[in-house]
Amino acid sequence: MPTERTLAIIKPDAVGKNLIGAVLAHLEADGFVIREMRMQTLTGERARDFYAIHAERPFFESLVDFMTSGPCVPMVLEREDAVAGLRRSIGATDPSEADEGTVRRLYAESVERNAIHASDSPENATVEIGFFFGE
Ligand code: RTP
Ligand code: MG
Repeated sequence: MPTERTLAIIKPDAVGKNLIGAVLAHLEADGFVIREMRMQTLTGERARDFYAIHAERPFFESLVDFMTSGPCVPMVLEREDAVAGLRRSIGATDPSEADEGTVRRLYAESVERNAIHASDSPENATVEIGFFFGE
């Protein structure tokens, strides 16, 4: 199976709790190789653009406030089956529904403050990698 790339973001809740290292260790133990990474605080405009698909959802303004509340750590991860594999490694959106041993089960606080983002399809991975690491 060829390798694939996907985008992850360690969200401001996990960064604020000094969990960057724990999350990276978890991802590396699951076989992901970090190819790009940086720390940045999203502006409202960038957060709205990134999560534009959710613009009509009732939680959108709260999500934008959360995602701009402090620094986050976007990264490009590479592995076989990276997109689907990372979604399995992070677990369900709501940590109370996430499988044991997943990043969100271990580190997320709530359905919103859920520690990490992962691209949900190969097509979105390409777009999201460009969003953070394009020219
Ligand atoms: P993500 O895009 O961040 O990887 O999360 P996801 O695919 O598991 O979930 P998605 O439906 O795309 O939701 C994006 C983010 O919005 C926040 N959210 N809040 N209050 C709520 O009911 C609610 N639902 C979603 C979460 O931060 C979620 O990860
Ligand atoms: Mg999503």
